Amino acid sequence: MIVSTLRALCLTVLLMLTACGEPSQQKAPSTPMPAASTLKPADAALASLYEQSCKACHANPASGAPQAGDRAAWQPRVAQGMGTLIDHTVNGYKGMPPLGSCMDCGEDEFAALIAFMSGEPGT
Ligand code: HEC
Repeated sequence: MIVSTLRALCLTVLLMLTACGEPSQQKAPSTPMPAASTLKPADAALASLYEQSCKACHANPASGAPQAGDRAAWQPRVAQGMGTLIDHTVNGYKGMPPLGSCMDCGEDEFAALIAFMSGEPGT
């Protein structure tokens, strides 16, 4: 009698543990990109804009966005010219939301943010 109660209790606890162990939300990817996630613009004002907007995707490989500092990923995009890149930033482009979710950014900030992320200060 006691044994079966105990067994039932154990089973319940086990079930609860299993349920808790179920990852309801995605955990951080097992292979984080330390390079992209630790990078930020040297300028404090720009860094704050970056961290509030672009970083959510451009330092998150799962988003499909070209990662900050990943020059190989940015190279073909940079080749389109800064005008096109700013146009795609302002108007949105595929998975890239209009204004990159940065309502306070102007064209100068976008240009600086793009130069920072692409690792091409000259663009
Ligand atoms: C919600 C996610 C998200 C945010 C926030 C975001 N981006 Fe993007 N961005 C993307 C994705 C995804 C792409 C790749 C689009 C594609 O080519 O499929 C992209 C591409 C780009 C490109 C390349 C466009 C091209 O022509 O190849 C630029 C430039 C860019 N983002 C700038 C920015 C800037 C600047 C910010 C911050 C102000 C920003 N993004 C914020 C998701 C985001």
